[in-house]
Amino acid sequence: MPIVTLANGRSFSADRGTTVLDAALAHGLTLEHSCRTGRCGSCKAQVLGGASVALRDEVSLTAEEAASGWILTCTREAETDLSLDVEDLSALAGISPKTLPCRIDTLELVAPDVMKVTLRLPPNAGFAFLAGQYVDVIGPGGIKRSYSLASDMRSAGQLQLHVKRVDGGAMSTYWFEQAKTNDLLRFRGPLGTFFLRDLAGLDVIFLATGTGYAPVHSMLMNLAALSPDRRPASASVYWGGRVPQDLYADASAMPANVRFTPVLSRADASWAGARGHVQDALLAERPSLDNAAVYACGSDAMIHSARSALTAAGMKPKRFYADAFVSSN
Ligand SMILES: Cc1cc2nc3c(=O)[nH]c(=O)nc-3n(C[C@H](O)[C@H](O)[C@H](O)COP(=O)(O)OP(=O)(O)OC[C@H]3O[C@@H](n4cnc5c(N)ncnc54)[C@H](O)[C@@H]3O)c2cc1C
Ligand code: FES
Repeated sequence: MPIVTLANGRSFSADRGTTVLDAALAHGLTLEHSCRTGRCGSCKAQVLGGASVALRDEVSLTAEEAASGWILTCTREAETDLSLDVEDLSALAGISPKTLPCRIDTLELVAPDVMKVTLRLPPNAGFAFLAGQYVDVIGPGGIKRSYSLASDMRSAGQLQLHVKRVDGGAMSTYWFEQAKTNDLLRFRGPLGTFFLRDLAGLDVIFLATGTGYAPVHSMLMNLAALSPDRRPASASVYWGGRVPQDLYADASAMPANVRFTPVLSRADASWAGARGHVQDALLAERPSLDNAAVYACGSDAMIHSARSALTAAGMKPKRFYADAFVSSN
């Protein structure tokens, strides 16, 4: 059976037919990832030696990247022993996904097309996650969709989701037309590697579009609970929508010392705030990005364009963390 070795010397065996990412997770090693379907690009890794083969389409890998030895660990199986220039994320050691039952506690329409869902966990479920991670909710008929956790990682008994309605979407139809209090569902999680890294002394900037605000909400609560020596030098949130109703929380929902900039792309003349895209609103302020760490969540388009605009403006690419809400069906 092929052996995969990481840059920090850790290694694990990888069955044929199992992706490198799944093999790592099965051995308790978490590699950077999000969608697990080849669509988001979070799991890109440079191959230093060995051969692998794609088990599904590698939508988020460009031809140039593939030609220069990059792979997606969520799509590739190891054909031979493989050496990868990535490390596992030790912050996630001990936090492993499990499948649990839950019941809908509340459903609240917070914008015309956004439902805030609170899920109640069984007593003693022992569910732990890091702010920023997501779960796969398993709904009626076994439909499975990913949703970021918007709740405080310290409130174990309840989970909050912010769900955007996708026209004609299978799970959207359930949440917006059929779901009711006390419905029994299951979920698997926590999943993904979008979580706060060491922030001490940095300028942390959150960029969100639409319900991409959900994990940011959880991260902001995490931030407020950090001890003084672990806090960032500054924190700001740029949250984008089309019209005012899309931004279903306001400045009063932000912890003290967090600067909030709402950004609208289709507001009428009465809107006096920032317009356009979140990354443009940030760059228009000509910030110094040397010391910045960016956490971006929401549309794939925003994440791609923010990553290239901000790194071109001087931010360190390694400090750009993102979770793309690509289709999870
Ligand atoms: C890691 C991760 C976290 C996510 N977190 C959230 C969250 O917190 N809140 C939230 O509202 N959504 C989130 N999503 C998106 C969510 O998982 C679903 O994909 C989305 O809600 C659509 O599900 P559906 O069953 O209603 O529609 P589906 O039946 O899956 O799709 C209906 C149609 O819409 C298209 N479509 C679906 N989603 C998208 C998309 N994102 N972009 C473009 N086309 C799409 C499909 O291709 C299909 O044609 C997340 C996705 C990922 C990968
Ligand atoms: S492309 Fe692999 S986790 Fe998204």
